[in-house]
Amino acid sequence: MTSTPYWVAGKATTSGEELAVTHPYDGSQVGTTSWATADDVERAVAAAAAVSDSFAKAPAHVRAAALDHVSRRIAERADEIAALITAENGKPMKWARGEVARAVSTFRWGAEEARRFSGTLQRLDTDAGGEGRMAVVRRVTYGPVLAISPFNFPLNLVAHKVAPALAVGAPVVVKPAPATPLTALLLGEILAETDLPEGSWSVLPVPNDQMDPLVQDPRLPVVSFTGSGPVGWSILDRVPRKHVTLELGGNAAVVVCADTTGAELDRAASRIATFAMYQAGQSCISVQRVYADASVYDELTAKVVAASEALVTGDPRDEKTDVGPVIDERAAERIESWVSDAVGAGARLLTGGTRDGATVAPTVLADVPDEAKVSCEEVFGPVVVLAPVGSVDEAFERVNASRYGLQAGVFTRDLGIAFRAGVELEVGGVVVGDVPSFRADQMPYGGAKESGVGREGVAAAMADLTYERVTVLTGISV
Ligand code: SIN
Repeated sequence: MTSTPYWVAGKATTSGEELAVTHPYDGSQVGTTSWATADDVERAVAAAAAVSDSFAKAPAHVRAAALDHVSRRIAERADEIAALITAENGKPMKWARGEVARAVSTFRWGAEEARRFSGTLQRLDTDAGGEGRMAVVRRVTYGPVLAISPFNFPLNLVAHKVAPALAVGAPVVVKPAPATPLTALLLGEILAETDLPEGSWSVLPVPNDQMDPLVQDPRLPVVSFTGSGPVGWSILDRVPRKHVTLELGGNAAVVVCADTTGAELDRAASRIATFAMYQAGQSCISVQRVYADASVYDELTAKVVAASEALVTGDPRDEKTDVGPVIDERAAERIESWVSDAVGAGARLLTGGTRDGATVAPTVLADVPDEAKVSCEEVFGPVVVLAPVGSVDEAFERVNASRYGLQAGVFTRDLGIAFRAGVELEVGGVVVGDVPSFRADQMPYGGAKESGVGREGVAAAMADLTYERVTVLTGISV
């Protein structure tokens, strides 16, 4: 098995200690790469700093052409990339294919937004003192970006950092998750086919516990992190003067209103089961909590249990599999223990609760105390908690009674409730008529409360990686 190179300022490198990547389902070896050496990390950062000014001035067509190329090449290599995602992450093939399709779109949006990224004119003659003046408002980059990406979307959550950075002309140093570096390194292979300047991108496997020098490095003024809350907030605490974007976790909730009946209730149950268990629950917006009006609760619960039991659990390489393993056995053991703690505290286990290696059976719980971890912490596993509520007010209160606030879903046909949800739910996004797990890659995406700061979604991330600079022109007629 040849070792996959890592990428230093756009050049393939294989020095460094071996990093073996294993399949979460059966522990087989998927491939190897190496940990970036300290010298290579230094070379990547120095090159990013050196190219920063000129890259920010590179013409939009150069950046857009590179991003278009990446989008096209991901599409051409879709099957190979999906198989690699499944191998290192364990997500079933169908979800891996979906992720690849989304990355094609993320890079395409990067190209399109790079062409549009223009700034605005602002008239200043609105008061006597501003007569004869006009402001040109442009966005300029803070400089090179340190992009720290998670294991749950080894391609598209890297794309969400790389595409906007390259679109605005900010060099990017990617540090992929140690469990799933190979997909990001394959993306490096595609980036290397472009004419992007040396230093504008690097992909470096670095152990999580050796990240501090990179986080602290003043040549990387932006840190964009997706991952767990404790790690994310500790980054912000360590570098409060840097521009830090945090996409963290959540315990996403769904409200099912009394008007969700008949075929709509069937659909709600099927969507809840599917998106509580998709990717074995390892998405920050997988369904974790369900608050259903008491009039539909029993029927909904029975349907969610049936739909969860109908999901095929097993080898993620099998096309029929819906639910594969979580990232490793330790994670599965933690999830199992949270479920038994909840049951010990009085919760009713309606289905699931078992584990085979790293694979956790789709699990549905009722009567869960609010302070049980499966309710108030992020499970990041195939577990959903259902509770009846007496009113929309109560449902919204319970959604908001969380430290987190990433996205929420509301099943209703009532436009008034839909608008209220958008106003009252303390989250970054509300999905009406569906689960919170919907994300289109051009949408602003990010959290309220402890779910993070800043926004991704290509245009939103481009704004986030830049600041406004005003040029005031004097002595002109408006
Ligand atoms: C996440 O887990 O935060 C990303 C969800 C997604 O991109 O669908």
